[in-house]
Parts: sequence; C-alpha cells; structure tokens
Amino acid sequence: MAQDIKKFENQIILGDCLEIMKTIPDNSVDMTFADPPFNLKKKYNHYEDSKEKEEYLNWCYRWIDEMVRITKPTGSIFVHNIPRWLTYFAEYLNKIAFFRHWIAWDSGGAPLGKTLLPNHYGILYYTKAKSPKEFKFYDIRAPHKRCRLCKGFLKDYGGKKDQMHPFGMLLSDVWTDIHRIRHKKRRDEHPCQLPVPLLERMILMTTDEGDIVLDPFVGTGTTAVAAKKLGRKYIGIDIDPQYIKITEKNLKQVEETKINGCYVSIYLDEIRTMRDKDFKEIWKNKDNL
Ligand SMILES: C[S@@+](CC[C@H](N)C(=O)[O-])C[C@H]1O[C@@H](n2cnc3c(N)ncnc32)[C@H](O)[C@@H]1O
Repeated sequence: MAQDIKKFENQIILGDCLEIMKTIPDNSVDMTFADPPFNLKKKYNHYEDSKEKEEYLNWCYRWIDEMVRITKPTGSIFVHNIPRWLTYFAEYLNKIAFFRHWIAWDSGGAPLGKTLLPNHYGILYYTKAKSPKEFKFYDIRAPHKRCRLCKGFLKDYGGKKDQMHPFGMLLSDVWTDIHRIRHKKRRDEHPCQLPVPLLERMILMTTDEGDIVLDPFVGTGTTAVAAKKLGRKYIGIDIDPQYIKITEKNLKQVEETKINGCYVSIYLDEIRTMRDKDFKEIWKNKDNL
C-alpha cells in the first residue's frame, strides 16, 4: 500500500526497487533517474547481470512503469543506458510519457566494438506532461571549451567571438564535457559509478530547491549526493547493502554548492553547469571564481 511521501524523503533504502517503489504514492516525486544494470555481465555483488533479452526488457518495463507513475505531472523521467536497450525503452515510454530528448553522453571512454565504435551512452529524457507550460525546465549553460595549454577558446563561433556569452554555451543534447571517473582515489568500490556533475546537470535543468529526486538503482549514491549538493531532497534505493553503506558515508560528507545564493555544479574547483537565469548573479564577482 502507498505510504506518505514524507516517510521516504532523504532516505537511502535497501531493497528491490520494484518492491519499494510500489509503496511510493502516485505523482509524488519531481524527478526520477535510473541507471540500471546494462545486462553486460558486469560483476555486481547482489545482481546477476546476464538475463535473456526478453526477461531483461520485461523487468525494465516494470520499473519504468513505476517511475512514470510516481513522477509528478510537472516532473521529469531520465533513463541512462546503452543505445541498444534505449531503443526498446523509448518505444515503451512513448506510450506512457512524452519524449523530450535522447541525450548523447560521450563519457570519454575507450570505444570497443565489432562494427561502428560505440562511443556514447544515451540518456532518455521524458516528461509526464505534454505541454512545455506544464513541466519544469530551465535552460542551462556549460563553460566554453578551452585549450589546456594556452586557455584560448577551442571554437571560433564563425568569427563572432565578440558576441559570445561570457561563461558558456546553452547546452545541446550532446554532452562531451563530463568524463567518467577514472582515478581510483575519486572512485568508490562500484563497477559503474557515474560522475556527480552528470546528475547535477539534469537536476539543475528540471527541478527546484526542495524538490524530490528519486533513483531506484542508486549504487554508491551519485544521484543522492548531487541532489543534496543542490539543496534537493533525495530517495535512493539499491539491492546491495555494501553500496547502501558507501552511499550513506558519501552523503555525510556533502556540502551544498552555491555561489551568491545560486546553486551551481562545481567539480574540481570549476563550474560545470549553471542555470541561464542565475548567470548574472553568479558572475557578479567573477574574478573570485
Ligand atoms: C549501474 S549501477 C548504478 C550505479 C549508480 N548510478 C552510481 O553512480 O553509483 C546499478 C545498480 O543497481 C543495483 N540493483 C540491481 N538490481 C536491483 C534491484 N532490483 N533493485 C535495486 N537495485 C538494484 C545494483 O546493486 C547496482 O548498484
């Protein structure tokens, strides 16, 4: 039976996401994000990552149904996976939610493959409402790309550098500026931990301070950490007690990241994403950034 959403706020829950999500009320969460096992025979402690195709897809459709059900009418649904599976998920989601974007995330990994080299992950972005007037969305900017050595701009924007935005471009649906965490010292003991700035970008784009973000496959807590850093509430679920422990430890260390009262995504001392509407406020004392 569905319980009061307040009971779930800022909780990291050990269990099967299908069972836990069943108890979450309809239309109660602002953003849902899922990064499920990809059925690629990865080594998880508590999950067998090699199902038959139909079995895997039917399992995925069940948690996708739950994500859509619990998302608010103003809310957003994101699903991260390899393109092969996303083609099926998109067909399924098209019947129960509204397609916004297929975000191509080039995570900077080494490509491997028998035909074209697979070099991006996809993030499906759907909303529960059809009209842009009905769902939350904020334009976001990422910094201009610069040469590591000379710090000059890598693009000349058709010779119109003087008209360039001082911070960076409005984002497109191709993200190449956020990389997987390769350094061991920045990683947890998890085979496929996502980088926090990736989640911060989606959270800044589709939610407000105090909103609730849910991840049914929270792993070592990337989504919950990103939500807390940005002043949002989180709900994280994972079937593995060890990952739950690491998530809880990670959450204890989180501090909110704000500049001049505006939430921003900062990683290794650099702003990775800001909302367009916050730019003027954030840029006021840009010399300190
Ligand atoms: C791809 S990983 C998610 C990684 C996460 N995004 C991160 O950055 O740490 C998938 C996770 O799903 C969990 N999992 C697998 N089956 C599950 C289930 N039925 N319910 C909840 N979690 C599950 C695994 O333990 C694993 O941590």
